[in-house]
Amino acid sequence: MSNEPKKTLPSNPESGLRKGLTSYGDKGFSLFLRKAFIKGAGYTNSALDRPVIGIINTGSAYNPCHGNMPALIEAVKRGVMLSGGLAMEFPTISIHESFAAPTSMYLRNLMSMDTEEMLRAQPMDAVVMIGGCDKTVPAQMMGAASAGLPAIQLITGSMLTGSHRNERVGACTDCRRYWGKFRAGEIDEQQKDEVNDQLVASVGTCSVMGTASTMACIAEALGMTVPGGASPPAVTADRVRIAEETGTLAVQMARDGLTIDKILTADAFENAMRVLLAIGGSTNGIVHLAAIAGRMGLEIDLDALDKMGDETPVLLDLKPSGDHYMENFHDAGGMATLLRELKPLLKLNALTVTGRTLGEEINAAPPSFPQDVVRKFDDPIYPRGSIVVLRGNLAPGGAIIKQSAADEKLMEHEGRAVVFENAEDLVTRIDSLDLDVTADDILVLKNIGPKGAPGMPEAGYIPIPLKLAQAGVKDIVRISDGRMSGTAFGTIVLHVTPESAIGGPLAHVRNGDRIRLSVKNREISLLISDEELAKRMKDNPITEPTADRGYKKLFLDTVTQADKGVDFDFLRAAKMVGKTPQK
Ligand code: FES
Repeated sequence: MSNEPKKTLPSNPESGLRKGLTSYGDKGFSLFLRKAFIKGAGYTNSALDRPVIGIINTGSAYNPCHGNMPALIEAVKRGVMLSGGLAMEFPTISIHESFAAPTSMYLRNLMSMDTEEMLRAQPMDAVVMIGGCDKTVPAQMMGAASAGLPAIQLITGSMLTGSHRNERVGACTDCRRYWGKFRAGEIDEQQKDEVNDQLVASVGTCSVMGTASTMACIAEALGMTVPGGASPPAVTADRVRIAEETGTLAVQMARDGLTIDKILTADAFENAMRVLLAIGGSTNGIVHLAAIAGRMGLEIDLDALDKMGDETPVLLDLKPSGDHYMENFHDAGGMATLLRELKPLLKLNALTVTGRTLGEEINAAPPSFPQDVVRKFDDPIYPRGSIVVLRGNLAPGGAIIKQSAADEKLMEHEGRAVVFENAEDLVTRIDSLDLDVTADDILVLKNIGPKGAPGMPEAGYIPIPLKLAQAGVKDIVRISDGRMSGTAFGTIVLHVTPESAIGGPLAHVRNGDRIRLSVKNREISLLISDEELAKRMKDNPITEPTADRGYKKLFLDTVTQADKGVDFDFLRAAKMVGKTPQK
């Protein structure tokens, strides 16, 4: 055709549709065949000669957090095509928190493998990854980190808040709060059903600082999104504009060869950790960051992260640590407002998907204005970082507690262990009025770690025993090797490593043992002698869980502990090259 627009294909013969040819023993034939098939969909040679931008579609009827996928894909395609690229949409696995059994975390690594291998197998010069619900964004970044091509993250965006009897509500902090009221007999069946209609007022991800919002902010802090890409709610014009800009940038990244290894550096991870602490982010953020960093050959230094907490206050006033919702964060200027406050602590030279540094993007952001969602650095909602790393004979490999969501009075506490052997034991006995438990005790839940459950479910938020809840007890110290939803609140020690299912000390805690939690001293200790602990370990050897076949076998044979991100060992970088943050 004589009036075809100027072709924009890079001269590299290994680019665009020519990349990763299917093996037929004849490259010319492979390309000929590929083009013949795609022409069956009506493409012209001009279209096929352009930079190819893959767009990952994670829309699914099972995933309402991604319910705006069609609008986002259309906008990404617009951005790609206006910039001279060829948009190629394709599906991968999609995971929703409430529709994945036994737990979404069990499937995160499978989604990361799907993502990685589809990025390798199919020809594309850059990829736009659209994710939002908790595990999807980490899975996509893990996969892209391993695949190594230019990649940009597009977040689906948060849901709107609803209104129940004139009270503003949103998932999922308010889901737990209202369920707690129902359990305690404070609301009846009718009110429970009414609020159920209002907690999720639109498509999009949870509206508080849960894991999805945490990973959205982390993705922007890592430099993996368009500036401002973390906060626009799912159903807004701002979100759609971000999608178009994402498509535009993807073409630029393809042309410039801006591969993901130039973005996901040790400095970028340090910025992400800083942001995680300052937003009062979900504890799951640490596990996911460890997994993504592990793909780049970087270990997360938990002790250094803990030290960062001493100098990083919580600035974001969002539930569950504060009062607001994600849409308020967006109205307050989103990440630009937060990053401006954190600027003196950030690695400003870290490169972002725009090709500019984080420091340049902060300087280019619109000016600040009065708002009450992101506090000033010297007027925080919590003076220290939200997450603390604990160690001791109960967790030689570390454990964490979200101090900003914990009860100040319980953070220095010694108590008697009330032990539940596994999640089933917990369900069977926690509401028994015969349970021997007081508010001063410490609830211990075993076997909900990476191998134990399996998949490290968010069961670490152990409910207050019914008899204590009815007596008005709102918090009690709880310890497990599992995870907790970022939307939950309480004095809850999580991620105890090594987990009980592989014989960690947690496996050998007995009813009546004394346990000491000291957040001040970063300590979680079982108050028995070393000799007694060694004897218990010798007398009660643990048989690790196994499976005969399938994904469960792969999972149980290869999953790593929380400090390595619960990734599969063979998916981490072949060689570790350093730690982050760097000292
Ligand atoms: Fe999808 Fe909360 S359930 S983000």
